[in-house]
Amino acid sequence: MITVGILTVSTLGAAGQREDTSGEAIREIVTAVPLSADVADQRIVPDDRAAIESVLRHWADDLQLNLVLTTGGTGLSPTDVTPEATLAVIDRLVPGLAEAMRQESLLQTPFAMLSRAVAGCRGTTLIVNLPGSPRGVRECLEVIVPVLPHAVDLVTGRNTAHGG
Ligand code: MTE
Repeated sequence: MITVGILTVSTLGAAGQREDTSGEAIREIVTAVPLSADVADQRIVPDDRAAIESVLRHWADDLQLNLVLTTGGTGLSPTDVTPEATLAVIDRLVPGLAEAMRQESLLQTPFAMLSRAVAGCRGTTLIVNLPGSPRGVRECLEVIVPVLPHAVDLVTGRNTAHGG
């Protein structure tokens, strides 16, 4: 069973002024087949580096979640700081996940090149940034879901065999 934390990064969402449809889209996808994951925690924080980093550290160090998916704050606006917060807490970058999401997303929209999303590991937790829109969440998760079980196995040291 994969344990997941879902973090929506949205100043309006955290203030209760916008419905968190993207966090819910992540929940729907990860709890469905094939991942059938367990959502251990789900939160909304404002576009604030310290707030984002604090949740990521707590989920990785204290709860030791297998997978953390963030949504939002990956763009170019001055308030977008999710990639910086993620880079500050990870100890190893996993560039291929972000590269694959951008590559496939470019087939859907040229705006995909505006996402600065990153992915990496903190200890035994894999952290992946997703864009803020529910559509972006769905399109990006579709790309990485097939490899997530094996990625989690590797990150947690459960299995070192490749494939399948
Ligand atoms: N990726 C996919 N697959 N689909 C999308 O609709 N939206 C893009 C991009 N990535 C999008 C996408 C847009 S419009 C932006 S501005 C960036 O993600 C950053 O979004 P964010 O700041 O909400 O994280």
